[in-house]
Amino acid sequence: MSKVCVRSFGISLDGYGAGADQDLQHPLGVNGPELMEWFFHTRVWRRMHGHPDGEAGIDNGIAEDGFAGVGAWILGRNMFGPVRGPWLDESWKGWWGDEPPYHTPVFVLTHYARSPLKMAGGTEFHFVTDGIHAALEQARDAAAGRNIRIGGGVFTIRQYLQAGLVDDAHLAVRPVVLAGYECVKSVAGERAYHVFLERRPRDAALSSE
Ligand SMILES: NC(=O)c1ccc[n+]([C@@H]2O[C@H](COP(=O)([O-])OP(=O)(O)OC[C@H]3O[C@@H](n4cnc5c(N)ncnc54)[C@H](OP(=O)(O)O)[C@@H]3O)[C@@H](O)[C@H]2O)c1
Repeated sequence: MSKVCVRSFGISLDGYGAGADQDLQHPLGVNGPELMEWFFHTRVWRRMHGHPDGEAGIDNGIAEDGFAGVGAWILGRNMFGPVRGPWLDESWKGWWGDEPPYHTPVFVLTHYARSPLKMAGGTEFHFVTDGIHAALEQARDAAAGRNIRIGGGVFTIRQYLQAGLVDDAHLAVRPVVLAGYECVKSVAGERAYHVFLERRPRDAALSSE
């Protein structure tokens, strides 16, 4: 049966799913890539970006599973791009180049209508302006019995969780802290994951000024 799922959502120990101040140079926000460092080394990510190598361990296996059986994706507009407000033109086609990694219909939540956008490799972006339920309905039709993956970003996943519409989720918890501290050591114990934090040098210097 078709499920609504979240997969491979990177999250810091202090609960961030993206860095602040997203712009063209920082698609994941400032320091946001630290959340996805586990993914960047995997074979699945490297192949998506045209490299023949990459690690084939646990992270890779779980990331690969996250793409299996997905028949449609739902994204928020900030995950699609850094453009805010009305579309000035239709030149922005996503962060991913001519062939995005989705290969299915993708429903982008936005307040600003736009024509569907067909990309190479089977990805077609549809811009949905009437909310999360409408996007899910369209995604269900398009997925034709396969799963619907809520790709992100943070605001979008939160809305689907709060509405009780997510059947299952996988979070990739990274031992990093985006709010001013860095993780200097982490150890998996029998019943706890032990994390040792130190103030980032820059923040320590600022507070002693
Ligand atoms: N940690 C991870 O694994 C992960 C995964 C995916 C993405 N990300 C990161 O998350 C960040 C983006 O997250 P975000 O929370 O800023 O934004 P987001 O969820 O991607 O998009 C939010 C925007 O989508 C539109 N939108 C969302 N819900 C809507 C609704 N119900 N009706 C109409 N429009 C709606 C609105 O845009 P408009 O009003 O402008 O139309 C809203 O400002 C990016 O940095 C991305 O790289 C992280």
